Amino acid sequence: MTTPSSTTPLHDRPHHIVVMGVSASGKSTVAELIAERTGWVYADADDFHGPENIAKMNSGESLTDADRQPWLEALAAWIREQDEAGRSTVMACSALKRRYRDVLRSGAPGVEFVHLTAPFAVLRARIAGRVGHFMPQSLLRSQVDQLEPLEADEDGFTLDVRRAPEDVTDVVLAKLGERSAPTTRFREEPAPTVPDSADTGAFLDVNRSLWDSRAHAHASSPDYEVERLLSGPDQLSRVVEFDRPFLGDLTGLDVVHLQCHIGTDTLSLARLGARVTGLDFSGRSIEEARALADRAGVDVEYVESDVLVAPQALGERRFDLVYTGIGAICWLPSIEAWADAVVPLLRPGGRVVIRDVHPMLGALLDTVDGHLAAEMPYFETREPVVWDDDSTYADTDVRLPRRTSHEWNHGLGEIVTALLSRGMELTALAEHDSAPWRPFPTLMAPHPDHPGEYRLAERPSRVAMTFTIAARLRD
Ligand SMILES: C[S@@+](CC[C@H](N)C(=O)[O-])C[C@H]1O[C@@H](n2cnc3c(N)ncnc32)[C@H](O)[C@@H]1O
Repeated sequence: MTTPSSTTPLHDRPHHIVVMGVSASGKSTVAELIAERTGWVYADADDFHGPENIAKMNSGESLTDADRQPWLEALAAWIREQDEAGRSTVMACSALKRRYRDVLRSGAPGVEFVHLTAPFAVLRARIAGRVGHFMPQSLLRSQVDQLEPLEADEDGFTLDVRRAPEDVTDVVLAKLGERSAPTTRFREEPAPTVPDSADTGAFLDVNRSLWDSRAHAHASSPDYEVERLLSGPDQLSRVVEFDRPFLGDLTGLDVVHLQCHIGTDTLSLARLGARVTGLDFSGRSIEEARALADRAGVDVEYVESDVLVAPQALGERRFDLVYTGIGAICWLPSIEAWADAVVPLLRPGGRVVIRDVHPMLGALLDTVDGHLAAEMPYFETREPVVWDDDSTYADTDVRLPRRTSHEWNHGLGEIVTALLSRGMELTALAEHDSAPWRPFPTLMAPHPDHPGEYRLAERPSRVAMTFTIAARLRD
């Protein structure tokens, strides 16, 4: 525990925050950051356990409520002592059950709880990476089972913690009234169709930084097959090869490729005879895409822009085809806002072809005990799923910096409805059992009929991995 020389109360009287949650929820890190930022006195509740409790936990045994009682009383006594000395506190404590929290609350008036949560698979992955903590992984499940979420009459709030601890701390402090606004997107109001500019700025910058950091690694990854593409003028990306039946004859058409990344698919569309414009908000991706087109000697125009303002970025231009997908719409907070941007790009009779991650796959985060686990939202949610990661889906030796990213899933019905309600008619809706990367690396096998595609090695009919929607704007 730390005892800083000064305290910074948010309120007239001392304030007491307990950052609660199961193991690996990040409560100690967040509580320490709050203490650093506010100057409040910090304590880790684990430091108050007696030697018997520690020995029991080390041996993998759960503590009983009787074991916990003296510990909880010691914590409440500590809060009381600090309160009487006029000091605000922040404590990291699992506080899983209502009756434990009642004991902590008895320490001083106004004890507030910040409950940090994440899906089980995320916690499990985090705890697997921990060394030197006295709680064995086997206790995580029992903690999750025991957890009693905050009840309506308890002071406090719950936060999903799949974001960097600094961002979580921003949100906590904003909610506690310390700061006027969080630095990352976090809202409780219903999402407007087009996010307001402050919100847009926050998640855009965070996501753009991720994509800038990946661009070079992807351009040199064998998975993107740049050298094969450059080996001959009739070489196409595997993605475009797969999508050709939906694209039709592109000869002489004006095509815009939205969220074009490093331009492997964009180049392929040009090789099929289209006049192509690629658009992406990542400057580094656009640089790689331009370099690829130059090396291939193919004329492609590139525009750097947020896709949600593509009509403004592209001025009066209208296209015969908007092509996009394979990890595109998951970066956008609103599928309605996406459709608002896409449809005005089309001439009457113009088409949209999108093959993207199936929302069913988006809802499957990971495997839990070898099983696919539907842990993530299927439908579009107000809150993004926030990741904090230093890896990517493409094979690379390049060391990537750790980056936060914000993603949203969109249900198939939501995507179709967004297009239909803007004057489009569907010409194809296909669901595929494969994806052009390995979403679950240990469970996938190459597709027997589609080079570059992977599907579940066992019973691939279980999961729709990607979908294709082709739609046409009515004349
Ligand atoms: C997975 S890649 C696109 C897929 C492409 N098929 C590929 O693999 O080459 C996602 C792309 O979306 C871009 N992106 C993400 N959010 C965007 C936004 N709001 N506006 C424009 N581009 C965005 C990223 O920069 C990245 O290049």
